[in-house]
Amino acid sequence: MVSNTTNIVLVGFMGAGKSTIGKALAKRLSMDFWDSDSRIEEVAGTSIPDIFRTHGEKYFRRLEYRVLCDLINLQGVVISTGGGAVTNGTLLDNLLSKGLVIHLEASKETILQRLKGTNNRPMLDHGDLEVRIDELYRARYPEYSKAHYTVKTDGKEVESIVEEIVALIDDRIGLK
Ligand code: S3P
Repeated sequence: MVSNTTNIVLVGFMGAGKSTIGKALAKRLSMDFWDSDSRIEEVAGTSIPDIFRTHGEKYFRRLEYRVLCDLINLQGVVISTGGGAVTNGTLLDNLLSKGLVIHLEASKETILQRLKGTNNRPMLDHGDLEVRIDELYRARYPEYSKAHYTVKTDGKEVESIVEEIVALIDDRIGLK
């Protein structure tokens, strides 16, 4: 069982399953779970689409930066991040230095299937969905690949992804 103070940070593209897996992983490891997007909405007192609509992306990124810098200073928690957190200034470096960062990788095809019909992701509001995903995926992939580990999620059940992550953590931190 994980019992020390290491934070587990999940990064990855929109639709990769960070929140679902984060929640299940936290439960499996008896750790607290924090979702940065939910925390941002709490702090702002409104929804993410509304933050983008009213204040724009820059403002959202500032909130995201602040919220994640606070969360990473907690101890022994699982944190799921928003898909763009890795491109938010020095945030990724901070997460990498204070947590164990795991990239949940999903193929572009899987992401497209999952995000079709989505209407709560302002970064995908403009233009053709497939082109937009491709554009963001290419720009972000080099950042995601800086994670300590990458776990492929295509076609896998939540349980098996969670067990894969648990094995990586045990390997890395030896916390059994
Ligand atoms: C964003 C991803 C979203 C949310 C915001 C911006 C992005 O989180 O943080 O809409 O830039 O990729 P999810 O990855 O949980 O959808």
